[in-house]
Amino acid sequence: MNDVLWFNGRFTTTEERVLRVEDRGFLFGDAIYEVFKFFDRGPVFLHEHWMRLARALEAIEIPNPWDEQSFRDTMRELIDRTAFDDGIVYIEVSRGEGERSHTWPDAMKPNAIVFSRRHTFPDAAKKERGIRLVTEEDLRWRHCDVKSVNLLANILAKQKAQRAGGDEALLVDDRVVRECSHSSFFIVKDGRVMTHPLDCHILPGVTRDRVIALAGDRIEERYFGLDEVVAADEVFATSTSLAVMPVRQIDDGALRARGPITLKLQRRLDEAERASAQRL
Ligand code: PDD
Repeated sequence: MNDVLWFNGRFTTTEERVLRVEDRGFLFGDAIYEVFKFFDRGPVFLHEHWMRLARALEAIEIPNPWDEQSFRDTMRELIDRTAFDDGIVYIEVSRGEGERSHTWPDAMKPNAIVFSRRHTFPDAAKKERGIRLVTEEDLRWRHCDVKSVNLLANILAKQKAQRAGGDEALLVDDRVVRECSHSSFFIVKDGRVMTHPLDCHILPGVTRDRVIALAGDRIEERYFGLDEVVAADEVFATSTSLAVMPVRQIDDGALRARGPITLKLQRRLDEAERASAQRL
């Protein structure tokens, strides 16, 4: 299926092969990406996704092809040209292309691509039923705060988890529970909502940030291990595509029903997303 593709300032479709084999994103994973969703053609939390993209590019010294206004204009036009009302937009900026060499010259021209994709967001039944997590060792590097396309450890963990009957992998590192392979992770105990603090071991999830704000003074950003996860009253994951998603089971542990705080945060986030989508 062809979708609208923006490549370095011009519109085409995903049918066109726009990148050359010597693109550094392809050769080295030398690229940053971002994913946001849109409802009724309205982008959700676009400013927050822009901010994270800008920070990631700065962190690995790739010049940003946009300022915030031109970024917004590009996303607006891409969604306008898209054939469907709800979906996701994938953005990737690589350092550029050149003869394969570990080092790069100062004056590289980044390659930027943006495309929309249809996406089926979880329905009410799935949001109640929740997902099953399978624990996997966290083998990622120590810059997980940078949203780079180096996702090998993430995809291998997720594939293993799926083969073991899970929907997502819960990444555990030396007894500290970090996050999931492509979502953030929360537990609830005695009315307190806990999640891993922001550091180099997790991605600063846009949804995570919003859920933290919505949870108000119930929140504790701190480290915890699997023992606390097992003893938690409620467990949930968050991401752009999952929103707030209850966790039904971890490995072969006890089955859990969606808890009241998870439900409340789910509703509040859904409202915040809808409101954000209507603003642009
Ligand atoms: N995944 N943690 C990791 C490792 C992620 O890859 C993601 C997002 C999240 C949640 O971030 P956000 O709330 O901003 O979507 C947490 C994207 C969507 C992906 O790789 O497809």
